[in-house]
Amino acid sequence: MSVVTTTMHGDIAVLTIDNPPVNAASQAVRQGLMDALIATEKSKPAAVVLTCAGRTFVAGADIREFDKPFLEPMLPDLLNAIEAATRPWIAAIHGTALGGGFELALACSHRIGAPSAKIGLPEVNLGLIPGAGGTVRLPRLIDPVEAARLAVTGKPISASEAHKLGLFDAIAEGELLDAAIALAKDAAAKPLPTPLLTRAAPEVERAAWDAAIAKLTAKARGQNSPHEAAAAVRDALDHSGTDALKLERERFMRLKGSPQSAALRYIFFAERTVGKSPRTKGVAPRPLAQIGVVGGGTMGAGIAAAALLSGLKVQMIERDQDASNAGAARVEGILGGSLKRGLISEAKHTALLASFNADSNYSALAEADLVIEAVFEDMDVKKQVFKALEAACKPEAVLATNTSYLDVNEIAASVADSSRVIGLHFFSPAHIMKLLEIVVPNNVADDVLATAIQLAKALHKLPVLAGVCDGFIANRIMSSYRREADYLLEDGALPHEVDAAMRNFGMPMGIFEMQDLAGLDIGWAARKRRAATRPASERYVDIPDRICEQGHFGRKTGRGWYLYGEDGKPARNPEVEALIIAASARKGIPRLSFSEEAIMARILGCMQNEGAAILAEGIAASREDIDVTMVNAFGFPRWMGGPMFMKDA
Ligand code: 3HC
Ligand code: NAI
Repeated sequence: MSVVTTTMHGDIAVLTIDNPPVNAASQAVRQGLMDALIATEKSKPAAVVLTCAGRTFVAGADIREFDKPFLEPMLPDLLNAIEAATRPWIAAIHGTALGGGFELALACSHRIGAPSAKIGLPEVNLGLIPGAGGTVRLPRLIDPVEAARLAVTGKPISASEAHKLGLFDAIAEGELLDAAIALAKDAAAKPLPTPLLTRAAPEVERAAWDAAIAKLTAKARGQNSPHEAAAAVRDALDHSGTDALKLERERFMRLKGSPQSAALRYIFFAERTVGKSPRTKGVAPRPLAQIGVVGGGTMGAGIAAAALLSGLKVQMIERDQDASNAGAARVEGILGGSLKRGLISEAKHTALLASFNADSNYSALAEADLVIEAVFEDMDVKKQVFKALEAACKPEAVLATNTSYLDVNEIAASVADSSRVIGLHFFSPAHIMKLLEIVVPNNVADDVLATAIQLAKALHKLPVLAGVCDGFIANRIMSSYRREADYLLEDGALPHEVDAAMRNFGMPMGIFEMQDLAGLDIGWAARKRRAATRPASERYVDIPDRICEQGHFGRKTGRGWYLYGEDGKPARNPEVEALIIAASARKGIPRLSFSEEAIMARILGCMQNEGAAILAEGIAASREDIDVTMVNAFGFPRWMGGPMFMKDA
């Protein structure tokens, strides 16, 4: 059966694309549309309505076809043919019309959207630019700067924005198909609009254009595609539609073969592969209506807010009434911030507060389905909390720990039924960061694992499964390259040089700036805890301990690796630099000078070696788990795919 079917509604032909899950414009869809076009040009209905079955309009070209030679009919040729049709073509858009799907809609003579529809050109996120006329037709339909915004940022816009910009002729009131058919009848009675490709490009003043583009590409850092997308829209303004289309396609094909696009396509699919386990196939998760959170500090408050914002009821437990009030105030602060930024309505804010309660008595957790412990990072404290949870919660409630480094097997063993215990390692700020490391202890039950994965989905998080070890995937790798960065200091580099190398590589922050931001005391406590078991042969750099001993914990104390003045910007810290130089001298290490490449070679090599060990030990099941973690936990540049992808490339 064809993936494109035609039905007649009076004298209007309705074409329906049905290619689950997202109606990607695969070869079969392109062929089906070409056949339908030829047929309708022959049968001459009054107009054609193009619609999609399932959850969305065409969400783009089929990315899985990008690693093979493209097969006929090519998307640009198909769209040119649709644009040249003698009948009006009405794109009836629901869900998301993205990339090639948006371009398909642009080739139609008219567009109508469901109120909840979104449209966008996300090709830049795959290291590409639109390759089927998007950069050419769009600036001939709407304000060219707005066209550039869509192509350069890759961010989709809502139906109402699309309508305002002139992208949608109408927004459907009631049933989309009925409204599209009504629009088709109306269009059939009028002359066809001039095809976008043959329209003259609007004039745009060069200086204003350059300023707008500079703003749009400011966040691209080392990623090429946003700059390429801006250049493609510029080409579209400088050339005829037909010539610009050729230039766009050349640029698209060149980028498709580029290492950045290969990396971004890899990470796109990697993010959709991780967080699955053969153990949970066909296993029903436990219920998840009410969540308990123990500890209302930085993490507990963030986790509570994340759960509330996703529609779950939350009961928080703190040590005493004062701490409970402080925890509640933190949660209210986060929700207040969401209200202020317009992310939630006044009514929703009120409803969320009504779904939240903070207490100091564990008996309030009697109805909780899943409890996340986020108290101090101390094994004895955590064990006491788990004992209290065991006594207070129903026996089927899942008990989770947000520990950063501690042994989750040991925590699990502190309760009689260890199969109900799992690690849920959130990242800070927990209501914003998408990554959730699910730490899988030896005895965990399959349905507890399934519940953890289900919770990640409910919270709109990206779950990665990790085995039990010191630091799991994320913090184990981070500790390892943090150690390497400390070695670099003794070997001759200074903090600002290491940080600059990491930033210029594409990380949002260097490792020393990051430590100052997180607080140096956390790492200090971990090092003290490990001191007894640290092998005497291990190279140990005590510079960060010296900084902490002086009471300098980073940003929050105004001093750390850097000095922080009124403007909050990090400035080089001469005292720390003197400490570093003295440490090299004390150990008799000659101080060498390092290029940025040399610094990154050591840091990246370290990430890759630790990643390889994590794979070999089965802590991560695949390289995708490691790369998705590094990209989403520490801002490893997506356009490089991740350290393990780079190693294999
Ligand atoms: N091609 C092939 N497969 C795709 C796909 C695409 N364009 N988009 C999504 N999929 C697959 C996913 O891999 C996933 O497969 P799986 O179930 O086997 O893991 C499945 O569809 C569902 O995807 P999600 O899990 O992401 O579903 P969501 O509902 O969360 O999101 C979406 C749906 C918003 C459409 C999201 O999938 C998305 O952003 N897709 C990519 C859109 C895109 O980048 N389009 C541009 C493509 S490039 C292009 O069009 C070039 C053109 O200019 C020539
Ligand atoms: P925090 O110090 O901000 O908060 C801890 C809270 O736990 C405090 O409010 C304290 O009053 C409360 N608490 C202590 N003992 C308690 C008990 N017995 N019962 C109830 N409440 C108790 O610490 P933070 O940063 O929120 O960390 C909490 C946990 O999350 C730790 O295990 C930490 O390793 C982990 N974590 C921290 C991250 C971070 O970036 N801060 C990131 C990921 C995990």
